Amino acid sequence: MKRIATDWDKYHRRVRVSQRFLWTVWRAYADLLRGIEFKEPIRIIELGCGTGYHTLQMAKLYPVSKVTLVDFNANVIKDTERRMSCLRCKKEFLLRDLFNLGLSEKYDIVHSQGLLEHYTPEEQERLICLHRDLLAPNGIAVILVPTPSLTYRLWRGLLEKLHQWIYTDETPISEAEFTQRLESSGLEILKIQGCHLIEVGAVCRRRVDTA
Ligand SMILES: C[S@@+](CC[C@H](N)C(=O)[O-])C[C@H]1O[C@@H](n2cnc3c(N)ncnc32)[C@H](O)[C@@H]1O
Repeated sequence: MKRIATDWDKYHRRVRVSQRFLWTVWRAYADLLRGIEFKEPIRIIELGCGTGYHTLQMAKLYPVSKVTLVDFNANVIKDTERRMSCLRCKKEFLLRDLFNLGLSEKYDIVHSQGLLEHYTPEEQERLICLHRDLLAPNGIAVILVPTPSLTYRLWRGLLEKLHQWIYTDETPISEAEFTQRLESSGLEILKIQGCHLIEVGAVCRRRVDTA
């Protein structure tokens, strides 16, 4: 079946009113990051940053020297730039396609949420490898994706019935598939867990033999 790409302009018009969901997702991030500490100021990059909300929250949790936010949607980058104006560290906003990112800089946290599930399994592996390749030696990757839990299926089924489902290319990823894709892309999983009933999240580092 032909995949129809999600209309991200439509999505971002909607997310402006969905702060509660962003906060719920942030609680999941915070849970995944529990126990992880950094002594020196860190660099963070968010891939497919959308609102950039979770990077902003991370900057309250850790000392940060630089944040880099990447998205291929010009309206998103403009909004995110405005939202980050309160942040007092070096900031970089990149309007780029992740499949042609071409960055040589390395980061202490590389993260994404709501990205992988919009791509084929092969493209997902390329994106996971991108997270891996951007990691500094002791850096961590944090990735959250929707998973086909009962809650996810009920929620999606309801929105589809109401013609409110806008994620035309989204395929939820089971924890087993996610684990397999992370490990086959050279990441070592430090923590993996279900988050707020519809997502699964993982914290990983680069496997030593791929470093
Ligand atoms: C579900 S949203 C992410 C939401 C984000 N985690 C937040 O908290 O707002 C996915 C984002 O990824 C971006 N995106 C998807 N594919 C991309 C690609 N190939 N390159 C760059 N950005 C991409 C979309 O424009 C969209 O803003």
